[in-house]
Amino acid sequence: MAHRWKNDLSREDVTPKADFLNRRQIMAGALGIGGTAIGAAALGTMGATPAAAQEALEPTSLEDILQYNNFYEFGTGKSDPANNAHALQTEPWSITIDGLVDNPGTLSLADFMDGLTVEERIYRFRCVEAWSMVVPWNGVELADILERAGVQSAAKYVAFETVVQPENMIGVQRGVIPFPYVEGLRLDEAMNPLTILATGIYGEPLANQNGAPIRLVVPWKYGFKSIKSIVRITLTEDEPPATWNIINPREYGFYSNVNPNVSHPRWSQASHRVIGGGLFAGREETLMFNGYEEEVASMYEGMDLAEFY
Ligand code: MTE
Repeated sequence: MAHRWKNDLSREDVTPKADFLNRRQIMAGALGIGGTAIGAAALGTMGATPAAAQEALEPTSLEDILQYNNFYEFGTGKSDPANNAHALQTEPWSITIDGLVDNPGTLSLADFMDGLTVEERIYRFRCVEAWSMVVPWNGVELADILERAGVQSAAKYVAFETVVQPENMIGVQRGVIPFPYVEGLRLDEAMNPLTILATGIYGEPLANQNGAPIRLVVPWKYGFKSIKSIVRITLTEDEPPATWNIINPREYGFYSNVNPNVSHPRWSQASHRVIGGGLFAGREETLMFNGYEEEVASMYEGMDLAEFY
């Protein structure tokens, strides 16, 4: 069953995969957006309410979700993952949970998923490079996995690691960035009900280029936090390393919350390009926390969002 969050897009908001040209509009009223003024200002002729602003969203086709990717293990170009990720070996797959948990261990993917309910979550997905999609994920709440693992009271962060298969990964062979790709969340971010581990898109198993067989999705953060093809989850006391933060800490912070008011040093984050909009593709105003302000803003109360970007 689809789990409808207040700020979620609904099934009707996503282009049926065989129906790329029949673009549908985002349901008015499905979104309780924080950044009212921003949305309205951007749209000019489209109307003055946030709901009306959302009506201008162009939904994303499976074709675009499968062909416009970032997965540096398979190259740095947007079509490289679609061309090269077939080499990724996803069977067998196992995931290790360790660090500050009562029940550490390594499980096959089947055992890892055993007893968990896979739900559909339709989320906006906003890349730090200032483009966006709307993706109908299938996944499980990370909180359920962490609760099963028994998080110890000393744990404050969750670290994630992507598989490294040098023989299958052309980007690893070329050393385009340091591998394994690693990411991290604060424990409360990881436990937030919006945070999922996705195993599918459009009701089908994740394609390799999207991070098969299991990847993180954190919809209020820039896309690079959503680490793909996960093999290890570690509960830690200290803030774990995060790949883009290691590569360029000035440009990519640990938090990486979507924030239209904090520019990337080389470009504005106030708006973004909508992928797959065809003839009517355009730019859209970026919303605070990618539109999920109501669900997540309280976690950052008192924090200077420009300093902890
Ligand atoms: N995970 C790994 N292991 N390697 C990567 O290069 N790229 C990130 C993120 N997860 C990346 C990754 C970035 S920059 C983005 S925008 C998203 O994956 C892209 O996800 P998508 O290709 O499914 O849209």
